[in-house]
Amino acid sequence: MKKEAGVHKAFRTAVVPAAGMGTRFLPATKTVPKELLPVLDTPGIELVATEAASSGAQRLLIVTSPGKDGVVAHFMDDFDLEKHLEARGKLRLLEKVRRAPNLLEVESVIQDTPLGLGHAVGCVEAALAPDEEAVAVLLPDDLVQPSGILETMARVRAKRGGSVLCAIDVPKSHVSSYGIFEVEEVPNVANPNVLRVRGMVEKPTLADAPSTLAAAGRYLLDRKIFDALRRIQPGAGGELQLTDAIALLINENHPVHIVVHRGTRHDLGNPEGYLRAAVDAGLNSDEYGDGLRKWLYERLARDTSDQT
Ligand code: UTP
Repeated sequence: MKKEAGVHKAFRTAVVPAAGMGTRFLPATKTVPKELLPVLDTPGIELVATEAASSGAQRLLIVTSPGKDGVVAHFMDDFDLEKHLEARGKLRLLEKVRRAPNLLEVESVIQDTPLGLGHAVGCVEAALAPDEEAVAVLLPDDLVQPSGILETMARVRAKRGGSVLCAIDVPKSHVSSYGIFEVEEVPNVANPNVLRVRGMVEKPTLADAPSTLAAAGRYLLDRKIFDALRRIQPGAGGELQLTDAIALLINENHPVHIVVHRGTRHDLGNPEGYLRAAVDAGLNSDEYGDGLRKWLYERLARDTSDQT
């Protein structure tokens, strides 16, 4: 999975902010970090780490909080467990537990207080090398599939400079739950899913929404973001919003583009989205797909017969 240095030069480090409180998932998140909740058998953070590695990132920088050590521990070798599995010939499980530590180099920085996504991203500046001109940010509770969007975003940055974000096209009835982009077409662009961003509106009413294109959790941010984060004011709840810093850059004519992702996207940060992701993964699984599909048909038929 590890890719050679220099496969592309857009970014080397993938940042995964994982220091939030996960309040929408209480009481589970009292003791279990939401980033470790599994989709089938694999924690959400391993899924985004796999995506980051396959897009060419060499290093995963996890922003974590005091007490969430398990998130980083998931990427460490566990030799006792490995020996135990090997001795019992459980080679498939052995391969599974070795997967995360072998993906890419993993480091962490601590965000002492959850002061917002913008603040979390700001915490990584000192951990970047001076020549890292851009950084990828992947939110571990956004499952964006199939993977590959970061590679397209890297190509857009290489061609057009600035920062590149991922967007999804949401139903009109959902615009008020998202940050919505105001966009314009890019002249002579080969990929119609690449658009230039003119502005962003946070959770607009349908009447005020400039489009139905919503921010999804993948960002390729120019290093200028750190300076912008220092210049914005905290918003609601004292949190520093990443979108406010991006909006500041847009106002200063920093090029910001989106790539519209046309695949699936699940929000693992709340029970309903998480359940949908699990069902989707289950239906796509060679191991569980047939059994789950059969059970779902029976279960839904029972609902229908109850209603008649
Ligand atoms: P979310 O808003 O989805 O996560 O932030 P949250 O704050 O943990 O969730 P709720 O709203 O309380 O349920 C998106 C990502 O940013 C991280 C979160 O861990 C999540 O992965 N984050 C958020 C931080 O790292 N620090 C923060 O201060 C806030």
